[in-house]
Amino acid sequence: MAALGLIVCIVALISCTVNGRPATFLQDFRITWVDSHIRQLEGGRAIQLVLDQNSGCGFSSKYQYLFGRVSMKIKLVPGDSAGTVTAFYMNSDTDTVRDELDFEFLGNRSGQPYTVQTNVYAHGKGDREQRINLWFDPAAEFHTYSILWNHHHVVFYIDEVPIRVYKNNEARGIPFPKVQPMGVYSTLWEADDWATRGGLEKIDWSKAPFYAYYKDFDIEGCPVPGPANCASSGGNWWEGAAYQQLSPAEARRYRWVRMNHMIYDYCTDKSRYPVTPPECVAGI
Ligand SMILES: *[C@@H]1O[C@H](CO)[C@@H](O)[C@H](O)[C@H]1NC(C)=O
Repeated sequence: MAALGLIVCIVALISCTVNGRPATFLQDFRITWVDSHIRQLEGGRAIQLVLDQNSGCGFSSKYQYLFGRVSMKIKLVPGDSAGTVTAFYMNSDTDTVRDELDFEFLGNRSGQPYTVQTNVYAHGKGDREQRINLWFDPAAEFHTYSILWNHHHVVFYIDEVPIRVYKNNEARGIPFPKVQPMGVYSTLWEADDWATRGGLEKIDWSKAPFYAYYKDFDIEGCPVPGPANCASSGGNWWEGAAYQQLSPAEARRYRWVRMNHMIYDYCTDKSRYPVTPPECVAGI
């Protein structure tokens, strides 16, 4: 397989300037929070994250990326997962001017649905939470969670369904993450002060350890440090015409999610934002 990959690389040198699908977790990622709580499975092609009373855990990409698409398959903590939070996000790690794109999976009591919260920080400003519930049980099987990020928009996908779009509305003075590369991160931790029913439901440690599973890590993007001009090259597939706006089929699915699965949208939270934030007025 490695030899074949090398031949493909030599034949199509151009495709090697951007990152492709890695064979193993450790090719693109490293453990950032306690080795003992992240176990490699299937020869490193999948991992198990562990949360117990001693610790949660986390990992991050070795590189940062400026535009691209990141996706992984995740199977969330099953059963009584109240008070646990599993996160998958990109972050520029630049504190006061940080850019960040978040997926957070908020656990629940057995039989109660998970909530998926997304947030977008641009140039240090976040507070753009949206929450949806899911049309499947995310702890029963693996599902694909992806973030597409190009010059035109950021799209959060679950399987093939767009659940959130943040458009580049810089022309209207709305900040868009465009200059800072971001790393890819994931963590599993305890956050029972806020996660489930606003903190009312506490974690049940008698159910620990809690396990989440990840596989099919796929980062396609411009690594930083990496090839010069990669991020501004129009040749990257994620900048292509098909990715500059939702297709009609995607737009239909996105409307379906917003009509049937959205449970919170900061855009319509009048008590928090008496004046509707400008990006919300600019259309979905
Ligand atoms: C947990 O289940 C309750 C009851 O169905 C629901 O109100 C809540 O939104 C669910 N999710 C979280 C994360 O609290």
